[in-house]
Amino acid sequence: MVDDWWGRPILPSVPRLFLDHFHRTSLIAEDGGGLAGFLIGFPSPSLPDEAYIHFVGVSPGFRKSGLARGLYERFFDLARDHGRHVVKAITAPVNATSIAFHRRMGFEVGDPVPGYNGPGTSLVTFVRTI
Ligand SMILES: CC(C)(COP(=O)(O)OP(=O)(O)OC[C@H]1O[C@@H](n2cnc3c(N)ncnc32)[C@H](O)[C@@H]1OP(=O)(O)O)[C@@H](O)C(=O)NCCC(=O)NCCS
Repeated sequence: MVDDWWGRPILPSVPRLFLDHFHRTSLIAEDGGGLAGFLIGFPSPSLPDEAYIHFVGVSPGFRKSGLARGLYERFFDLARDHGRHVVKAITAPVNATSIAFHRRMGFEVGDPVPGYNGPGTSLVTFVRTI
């Protein structure tokens, strides 16, 4: 469903490895009829103070009702339980919704970083202490 939820082709950014290897620290929300939202995140195996949120999505019918906020707050608790004090994420500069959401969630929003994932890519960084 991610291409529909994002409104653009995004599936290659969610390879199966994230579900196979990070499901214990990721979250889903269900409404009985199916998936209402999800968060893919993990405590960094290499940076002992940090946790990272790779993807968050909420079904269009459930937006603006606090669902993603709830997923983030549960993930913050999980990250604290793992001894983490910093949460990071990134998004595409065109994703104004994601930038507004992360700002509301208390993240510091950086300027787009040219070449973040190699030539031709530019991404906005988010950082928040928890
Ligand atoms: C971004 C997204 C996950 C937000 O989910 P959501 O459940 O609607 O967000 P919430 O209802 O929990 O909102 C949390 C806060 O963000 C704000 N917010 C959410 N969407 C917003 C928008 N489009 N514009 C401005 N603010 C927004 C809310 O007002 C709320 O603020 P408040 O709690 O201080 O009142 C959802 O819009 C989505 O799935 N978008 C498509 C996928 C995507 O772009 N994901 C992020 C990039 S990985």
